[in-house]
Order: sequence, then C-alpha cells, then structure tokens
Amino acid sequence: MQLKFGSYPVLVASSPEMAKQFLKIHDTVFASRPALAAGKYTSYNYLDMAWAPYGAYWQQARKIYLTEIFNTKRLDSYEYIRIEESHNFLSCLYALSQFGLDGCGKPFVLKEQLSRYSLSSMTRMVLSNKYFSEPKCDLEGSIITLDELQEMLDQWFFLNGVINIGDWIPWLCILDMQGYVKQMKDLYKKFDRFHEYVLDDHKAKRDALDKDFVPKDMVDVLLLLSENPNLEVKLTRDCVKGLMQDLLAGGTDTSPAIVEWTFHEIFRKPHIIEKATEELDRVIGRERWVEENDLSKLPYRESIINETLRLHPLGTLLAPHFSVEDCNVSGYSVSKGTTVLVNVWSIGRNPKYWDAPEEYLPGRFLDKKIDILGQNFALLPFGSGRRRCPGYKLGLKIVHSALANLLHGFKWKLLKTMKPEDVCMEEHYGLTTHPKVPLEMIIEPRLPIHLY
Ligand code: HEM
Repeated sequence: MQLKFGSYPVLVASSPEMAKQFLKIHDTVFASRPALAAGKYTSYNYLDMAWAPYGAYWQQARKIYLTEIFNTKRLDSYEYIRIEESHNFLSCLYALSQFGLDGCGKPFVLKEQLSRYSLSSMTRMVLSNKYFSEPKCDLEGSIITLDELQEMLDQWFFLNGVINIGDWIPWLCILDMQGYVKQMKDLYKKFDRFHEYVLDDHKAKRDALDKDFVPKDMVDVLLLLSENPNLEVKLTRDCVKGLMQDLLAGGTDTSPAIVEWTFHEIFRKPHIIEKATEELDRVIGRERWVEENDLSKLPYRESIINETLRLHPLGTLLAPHFSVEDCNVSGYSVSKGTTVLVNVWSIGRNPKYWDAPEEYLPGRFLDKKIDILGQNFALLPFGSGRRRCPGYKLGLKIVHSALANLLHGFKWKLLKTMKPEDVCMEEHYGLTTHPKVPLEMIIEPRLPIHLY
C-alpha cells in the first residue's frame, strides 16, 4: 500500500511476500531509518543504533552489540543477575499473595510488577544498580529512583512512537504544533544528566583500578571500546551514551509487554494454564524454580510465547525502514527516500499462512517447527535481515524465564468481579504495542514456602 505522509512517500508492506522483498531481497536498499525528530533529539542525533542511518557507524555498532555485548559468554556471565532479580521479583509477588483481605492475596497490577523486575535486571546488566535509590532515600551514589528512570523510558517510547507533524511537513517543523519536540528536548536533558553521571562514575572506578580493571557491565565494555584507536569509526562519548540508551530502552519495555499479553490471552483460555503447569510439574517438580537451562525441556510453555509473539508483535510496524536509493520492487518503482513500514501484526494473522489466524492456539507451534527469528516472513516479531533486533537472545531469556516461573510459582486468578471473557484485548499503540487496560489479579503460592 502506497501512502503519502505530508510531503513524503510511505509504503506499508502487509504480506509475507512484500516483507521478504524489503527485508531480504532488497535489504541493503531499505536498511536505513528516516531522519525523524525523535532520533535527533532523544537519541543523540541518531547515534544510538535504533535510529542510526545505514552506514559505517551503524555497521560498527551492530558488530559491537553482536560480538561484545550479546555474545553467549557475556550473556551467560549475567545469569546470576537474572537469577537474583527473578528471585526478588517472585518474593515480592509472594508477599502480595499473603496480604489480602478474606484470606485471599492482595490484588495487584501485573504490568507494574513486571516492569520493575525487567528494569532492575536490565539496569544491573547494563550499568550496575548503584545509581538508584528508593523514593525519599538518599543513598550515596544514587541520583535517581528506578521509578523516575521508568518514567523517562516510558516517555522515550511514547515520543519515539508519535506522529510528529513537523517530520512530515517540514515547513511546520519550526512551529512544533504538538509540543513533541519541546518534550523531546526536555527528556534529552534528563537522560543526558543521568548518562553523564554514570559514565563519569564508571571512568573513575576504572582509573582507580588501572591495570587490574576488568569490564563487568555493558557500559564498562562500551567505555573500553571508546578508547580503541583501531575502530573504524571513533566511538565518541555521545556514541557511548546513545548505545547505552538503546540497551536500557530495548531491554526494559519489550519483555514485560510480551508476558503481559500472554496473561491476557491465557486468562481467557484457562486450559492453557493447566496444560503449562502440568508440564512444569512433570519436568521441574515442585521443589525448585525453573532455571534457564530447563527452558528447552518445556516445549508447551515455549509454544505459548511464540503464539503471543504471532498475535501481539510488539513492533506492530517494526521500526520504520527507509530507502537509500531508487529500487524496483516486484515490478513497482520505489523512489529513494521512501519510508517503509512492515505490518508484522497483519502478517501474523494472514489466513494464507495461518489456520484460524485470530485464535490463540499455542499447539500450532508444537505440530511443526516454525522459525521466529526472521527466516519465516509470515512471523517477524524481531524483524529480519540487517536491522533484525540484536537483543533477541537476551529478550527471550527474560521472557521465557519470567513466564515459566510465574506459572510454576503461583496459581493465578482474576478479580471476583471479572470473568475470562471480560479481559480487554484492546491495544495501546506506540513504537511498541501494549494492552490498553492492564490486568489486575490475585495469586496463591504453589510451591513450598521456603522457596520464596
Ligand atoms: C523479546 C523482546 C524483544 C522484541 C520482541 C524486540 C523486537 C524488536 C524489533 C521488532 C525491532 C525492529 C526491527 C526492524 O526495524 O526491522 C528491534 C530492534 C532493536 N532492538 Fe529489539 N526486541 C526485543 C528485545 C530487545 C533487547 C533486550 C534489546 C537490548 C537490550 C533490544 C535492542 C534493540 C535494538 C538496539 C534495535 C535496533 C536495531 C537496528 O536498528 O539496527 N531489543 N527489536
């Protein structure tokens, strides 16, 4: 579908065949990003990876992510962080299950708990957790609360998902009619103050250790690389801040939303919860939590996440792609400077590729092996080709472990006033897509008390 947004051409690819044209056959032509205000003002003038135009800097950033940040050894070395944070999370939920009225657990909003868990895991892996205090408590070295960082990240996602009129009608840009650019500039100041503090602190710690310094968190790795004279493109301080922001943003918004969507779906089909807990009891037993190396032994649970990714891909239209030269796509000429949106949401519901496409049926992933990492163009939760999500391994580890342990550790109930068919499936659309109405629920522990 060809559209015109203001002064610029926009194409929407809504079928697997067209997605393959843009993301595989002509990948090099469409691997750039449009130069929108969000990338300029909230991402260090396109110096993060997500908004960087296709070219030498982006290629280098991708190589750094794949070889230095998301390599198996480093991700494994952070497993202890994920275990500790998961345990804190499950203990908090246990506390909620004990303090309700009438002997029932206290109702809580799953989204809030999931976001807190995901943010504390990611911040520890990216920059260690010493920069955060609880509200109203002034710990040495803390300059912000986790809630404040969460608010900043929420705003980042909001501003990166809006349609800013000035991006599409350049002569209106200066007026900033919706006030978004002002909000972006304000947000930039808040992030920059935080990033500066973290970088100074990391540098001081490294200088003090001198030759004994060993990079621990992801910021350590980026800082060390910024001193490497052999890099093709110098990694300036702004580049480090941009990449650090990618890691915080990419890692914190995505995983909670997938788990949240999963609960919205499985509450409407309680037999799925029963089947998943039966698998957990059989494979894991009730005397321990699920560990990351158990995950491959739980195929039904894995199929639940895959089905969520099909029906509720977070990047409904992926991030926008942009053509760097004229190109002939399936007989149509697409001019240089066209923005391409790949409608992954409708692709995942295409009846030509999916039986009963609107139904949530995890079993379809058990019947046959279906790729979710970009080889199958009827299912693209992480995109495909050059711009495919570099953080998918980490994202999937967090999502799979969280769902497994939530189902293993607790019995889940809706509030008494709600029936399964009342669960709202409406979407709140932005750069990522979340359930519009967060679910409130009650839980009961399933495992022996000493495990919590
Ligand atoms: C399971 C959770 C995740 C999902 C569903 C997801 C999905 C996506 C999608 C759809 C894209 C856009 C691809 C395109 O434009 O073609 C993307 C890009 C990206 N993701 Fe993820 N992501 C997840 C987790 C993560 C994590 C944990 C990180 C980092 C810590 C991350 C970092 C990024 C970055 C930096 C990009 C931009 C890549 C580029 O422009 O070259 N993501 N992700």
